[in-house]
Formats: sequence, C-alpha cells, structure tokens
Amino acid sequence: MKLWLAVVHIILVATNIWVTAHFHEELPEDNEFAEFEDFEEEKPAQTINDRSTEHLKESNNNNQDFEEEDVLIVDGDSEFDHFQDEEEFEGLDAAGGNAGPKSDEPSTLTITKIPLHLRARWDSFYLEILMIIGLLVYFINYVAGRSKNAHISEMWLMEHKQLLMDNFSLVGDTGKSTEDMSENGLVKESQSHYSLYCSGRVGCDSMLIELKLIKRQDLVAVLAQLVRPQNDQAHIRVELAKDETDNFVLAIATKRTAMHLVRDMADISVYCPEKRLGEKFGLPSGFYVMSEIAEAASAILDTRVLQAFSKFSPYIDYIYISDQFSGPKQQEDTTQLTMPEVKRVLLVGLNISIKGRITNAEGQEKLKLLLQLTFYLLDKLRRFKLSKEGKSKADKNRLRVEEAFLKTTHAARAEAAAQRREERRRAEKERMLQEEDPDKQRKWEEKEQRRLAKKRAPRMKQLKTSG
Ligand SMILES: *[C@@H]1O[C@H](CO)[C@@H](O)[C@H](O)[C@H]1NC(C)=O
Ligand SMILES: *[C@@H]1O[C@H](CO)[C@@H](O)[C@H](O)[C@H]1NC(C)=O
Repeated sequence: MKLWLAVVHIILVATNIWVTAHFHEELPEDNEFAEFEDFEEEKPAQTINDRSTEHLKESNNNNQDFEEEDVLIVDGDSEFDHFQDEEEFEGLDAAGGNAGPKSDEPSTLTITKIPLHLRARWDSFYLEILMIIGLLVYFINYVAGRSKNAHISEMWLMEHKQLLMDNFSLVGDTGKSTEDMSENGLVKESQSHYSLYCSGRVGCDSMLIELKLIKRQDLVAVLAQLVRPQNDQAHIRVELAKDETDNFVLAIATKRTAMHLVRDMADISVYCPEKRLGEKFGLPSGFYVMSEIAEAASAILDTRVLQAFSKFSPYIDYIYISDQFSGPKQQEDTTQLTMPEVKRVLLVGLNISIKGRITNAEGQEKLKLLLQLTFYLLDKLRRFKLSKEGKSKADKNRLRVEEAFLKTTHAARAEAAAQRREERRRAEKERMLQEEDPDKQRKWEEKEQRRLAKKRAPRMKQLKTSG
C-alpha cells in the first residue's frame, strides 16, 4: 500500500514536470508570435502614444511631466489597456479631433487578440484534463478492484466454511476482536490480503489461511498483470504441536517458488539446499523436491498425494514441511548470539485463480479437495515415524547445525569480549598517566609487567617442548 502511494506520487510528480516542461516549450513560440503581433501593433500604438503625449504636452503645460509619466507607466503595464480606457480616449479626442479614425484601428486588433489568448489557455487545460481523467480512472479502478477482491474472498470462505467447521472447533476467532474483522471471521489485512484463523484440532496448535489476492485496487498492478500475470493465492500455515511429528525438512514446489525457498528460507538453505526434479518422485513435471531425509520424502509422497498432484497440479504452488522453520534467513551481519526460535509447521500454497481468472465451480471443488489434502497431510505427519537410521541422521544434522552456529557465535562473542577488555585496559592506563601519586603509578606498572609476563609464559613453554 505504501509502495503504491509512492508510485502514485512519482507518477503525479512526473506528469507535473512533464506538463511544466511542455508548457515552457510552447511558451517561447507563443512569445515569438506575440512579439510578431506586437511588432505590427506597436507601431500605431506607439504613434498614438507619441501623439497623445505630444498633445498633452501642448495642451497641459503645467502638469506636463506628471502626465507624461502617467502615460508611460500605463504603456509599460499593458500595452493596450489605455485603448479600452474611456477617459484616455476622451482625453485624446478632446485634445485633438484628428486622432479619431486612428483609434479605430488598434481597437480591432485588440479584439483579434482575445481568441489567441484563449487558445493558449485551452492547451494547458488539455493536459490538466488528461491528468484528472487519469486520477478518475485510478479511483474507479480502486473502488472496483477493492470490491472484486472482497467478493473473491467472501466466495472462497463460503465454499470452504463447512469443511473448516467440520475439521476445526474454532473458525475465524483470533481471540481478540479487531475493527477489520467481518462477522464471518475473515480479517482484512489490506485491500488484497485477507486472513482467517482457525484452531481446535488434535495435533495442531493453529491454522492460519492467508488469501493473497492480485492487487486489483492498484492500477499499476493491474497493468503489470497484462505483462506478467500473477495468481490469486491461498497460503495455509499449520503450526503443529510440539513432539507430535518427527524431525525433517521437506519441500515440494514449482520452479520459481523452489528457487525462492532455497535462497531465502533459513531451514531449507541449511538442511536441504539441493533441488531435485519432481519426476524422480513420480510428480508431474515442473515441480522440484528439496528433501533432507529421503525416506520422509517417499513416505509423504504416497499414492494419494501423488494423485492429487497429477490431478490438480496447476493449483499447487508448494508444500513445505519443517520442524526447524524460522522464516526467512537472517542477514549475515546481524550478530545474534542465540539460535533463532524454530517452529514445527506444515505450509501449503495454492493458486486459487490462474492468471487472475476466477475458477469455475469445478475449480472450486478441486481447491476444496486440496484443502482436504492439507488435513490429510496433517494427520499423516502425526502418524509418520522415521526409522532409526533416519532419526539419527536428522539428529546428527541438527547437532551439526547447532555446533556450527555456536562456533560462529563463539568467535563473535570472544571477539566482543577481547575488545571490551582492551578498552578497559586503555582506560586504566589513561587514568594512571594522570595519577599524581607515584606510588600508585609504580604499583600499576608492576602489575602490568606481571600481566604481560604471564601472557608470554605459555608461548615460552611451547617453545621449550618443541625445541
Ligand atoms: C474434516 O472434514 C471432512 C469433510 O467435511 C470430514 O469428512 C472429516 O471427517 C473431517 N475431519 C475431522 C478430523 O473432523
Ligand atoms: C502457481 O503460482 C506460482 C507462484 O505464483 C507459480 O510459480 C506457478 O507457476 C503457478 N502455477 C500455475 C499453473 O500457474
């Protein structure tokens, strides 16, 4: 949402800049034209001005300087205002009758100038109108996209509510009431992100279903959809109860998601960074398997699961089982001194629409079967037990990861401690140099000597033994 706002801002600013740039481009042309016009008009005007000042000079000798200045000022402000000024012309007429026919000529010229002036104004309005139309289109799209997303999420919930109610004792109850929650339990996180919380089932702590829909409310995303179509997705996250399942990491995912998982997920990148072709496991092409323990992969991918994959492959994005789930990898430079907290999870990602097309009743039925497959996997995970070898391999892997982690943090910790000691010593030395009492200084020096000698001692011993 924030990103979108920034994009709108950039577009508006860019349009603004473009408009002003364009306007400036046209301005010299207008000016040149106007100069040309002025050149023609200036002559009679100038003569009249001269005449009028002459007349005024003649007729009004007392206020001569004053009057002359007045006329010149009017001339500088707007060249033709004094033609419309009745008093000016009255004065002119009264001063000299022969100025009458000449005053007609410039007055017709001023009339032709009005449409010219208006046309220039319409040019700039044209761009402003374009901008307003753009904003209007954006706004209409926002309202339409928002209601469409709301409709999709409602439909999804209606389809699945019964199944969820049959399998969970609590559906759509987070325990706290938020403003964004509708009466059916769906929480609106944003205009394109809805979530539903369920709990109350044997073997799992909770289930969170997140509907991440295409940002239909966002005009830029809608246009991007034409270039690179996205899908509406449902991300199911089941948190398994502790010690209910055996330890292993396994993920099955489509190509792009698999790449993302291997690169970004802490557990997959450590335990099973190797992507293997799904065909080797009997999966349809396009799927990749990342597996830590081979026997777990073959046990989870049983006939029923494989059948679901072959029947509903377009709707499945990933299935991700882990006992070491800690989300995305931490940045390298964060010196965290404890292991990240891990969770036991079953994650399933489904494409609930393909390229933004809402699936028909048949598709909805398939999605329902896939949600049931999730429940099936959940029960299967509880029943599944690794063999002795598998278990010891998994334990070894976890121990290895922990040791590696402790080693790196040990080095970091030792480094930090050494730095602190060094700083303390430097501060002490500083203090002793400032010290007035020579006795104290001497004592400190002796102590320092002893410390350095002690530091050297083991090295000397080593030299002795080796020599
Ligand atoms: C889950 O829902 C399905 C369909 O309603 C039902 O057949 C199944 O028994 C339910 N499972 C549990 C554990 O209640
Ligand atoms: C399902 O969604 C994922 C992620 O957007 C995508 O990689 C995959 O190709 C999609 N499957 C189909 C059939 O579109």
